[in-house]
Amino acid sequence: MTAVVVVFRGTLRMMRMAFLMVGSVGLMMAAGQAMGQGAVTPAADALPPGPGMTTVQERCSGCHSALTVLGQRRTPDDWAATVQLMVDRGADLSADEQSVVIGYLSKNFGVAPAK
Ligand code: HEC
Repeated sequence: MTAVVVVFRGTLRMMRMAFLMVGSVGLMMAAGQAMGQGAVTPAADALPPGPGMTTVQERCSGCHSALTVLGQRRTPDDWAATVQLMVDRGADLSADEQSVVIGYLSKNFGVAPAK
């Protein structure tokens, strides 16, 4: 009889611990979500406006987010190489669209000119 009570108590304690753990994991997840907002998923309109923006939005979002370009800094040559690489991978861009996109990326995500 005593043994049953002891086992029962132990089970209760384990359940309480499990409950506490689940509770804190939930809290951590909620906090992570709140902090991640904006940083992890930038708004879809985060691309600066300009010629080529919609092309980037439409043609560069098939395999990854079009926002993959955000935070990148490249010279026009490097952007041309990047866009070519994406076309090789299957990005659907005509030659005209490629130069518009390269221009757009170089202007908005270019390397600041040396002073
Ligand atoms: C057919 C699929 C596909 C399309 C369409 C595509 N990409 Fe990508 N892209 C990839 C893959 C796969 C990776 C990840 C592999 C890597 O990091 O090299 C990637 C990675 C990138 C990166 C980061 C990696 C790096 O090279 O530094 C950039 C920047 C990028 N893509 C830009 C673009 C732009 C701009 C377009 C539109 C012109 C585009 N992508 C369209 C497949 C694609």
